[in-house]
Amino acid sequence: MSTATEKQFDQGLVNTIAAETQMSFIDGEKGVLEYVGIDIDSLARHSTFEESTFLLWNGRLPDAAELAGFETELRAEYALPEGLIAMIRETPADASTMHVVQTLVSALSLFDPECDDDSPEANIRKAVRLVAKTPTLIAAFDRHRKGKEIIPADSNRSIASNFLWMLRGEEPTETMVRALDVCLVLHADHGFNASTFTSLVVISTLSDLYSACSAAVGALRGPLHGGANEGVMVMLNEIGDLDKVDEFMKGKLERKEKIMGFGHRVYKAYDPRATYLKTFSEGLARDTGNLPLYEMSTRIEGIMHDAVASKGIFPNVDFYSATTYWSLGLELDLFTPMFALSRMSGWTGHCIEYLKDNKLIRPGAAYVGPHEVPYVDLADR
Ligand code: ACO
Repeated sequence: MSTATEKQFDQGLVNTIAAETQMSFIDGEKGVLEYVGIDIDSLARHSTFEESTFLLWNGRLPDAAELAGFETELRAEYALPEGLIAMIRETPADASTMHVVQTLVSALSLFDPECDDDSPEANIRKAVRLVAKTPTLIAAFDRHRKGKEIIPADSNRSIASNFLWMLRGEEPTETMVRALDVCLVLHADHGFNASTFTSLVVISTLSDLYSACSAAVGALRGPLHGGANEGVMVMLNEIGDLDKVDEFMKGKLERKEKIMGFGHRVYKAYDPRATYLKTFSEGLARDTGNLPLYEMSTRIEGIMHDAVASKGIFPNVDFYSATTYWSLGLELDLFTPMFALSRMSGWTGHCIEYLKDNKLIRPGAAYVGPHEVPYVDLADR
């Protein structure tokens, strides 16, 4: 048994391995990410979000019948409970989207009779519900805040196609569906990132999946994590023009300010999720008249390469997701909800995996305050 003196102080848990997983593998030095041994580039090019989710949850690719069965299970759960739709209609239109997502993910528990059933079978059913319903609640809130009719989910569609349909009420093009699907595959899992670790802390208390995932949404929204994709777009809009990139970047670098969409705690090489996304976002930006955004992005990347690549700082997945989402016509504050929608697959998968050999997550604290301080009565202070 470890004693307090054997504990290592590790700020930010940079050097701590907290548990085992069979879901995703990252080699930060070489820039490798695999889901169950399959490299992310192959998955982005050939897989779908549904198939990648099956892979993460089951440790292998499905055959055709299994994939069709899994898609049917998900599609049967797209619709929201009436009570949740009523809550959405009461939500202030100007509420911040990630607070809304966190609240509604938590509120799903109110309408799920199995919310406190922690059997493995019930947890898998809840994971399916969480993955299937999160896109629906995001689209429903977006419609509500714009004063538009909420569009019911269409169970004949994939998650990406259904989301774009519910959001826009127009048939999305195949390119749009594919672009969103690629982003969902790329964001589905990434080891024990901050939001996944948050979900593990919660589930390790034997709480429930809804609590774990809503806490994870809260962790994701921070600008050092999932919020960075929105930050990238804010920056691109602020720069506004390719001619202004150099001056903008010079100022940022001189002031030692961080550039959103660059750097990663684990990757000290090019983020492998950004490789295909960069190529993909170029085509999409070209097709949708947003090429100037892509050109600004590559110019920023070039300047950052000269300035900080030697420190192991390269574009991360958020950098080119920003141009992709913008080209898809998504509002700025839907960028991070897209990340949540996808990472729901990883959060739920990791929680279920962790519960197989659960251990309460409870690190020590390095107390640096005083000791033996006498208590002084209120009247004498
Ligand atoms: N721009 C400029 N310099 C950077 C950047 C950046 N984006 N990121 C790191 N650095 C520099 C830091 O200034 C620091 O330099 P110094 O040693 O000279 O002081 C050094 O690199 C180390 O940076 P830390 O922030 O200490 O590294 P850490 O591993 O703690 O942070 C993080 C990683 C938070 C992702 C950081 O790179 C960052 O803030 N990036 C911008 C936000 C972002 O894009 N987040 C998304 C991450 S990916 C994801 O969540 C999907």
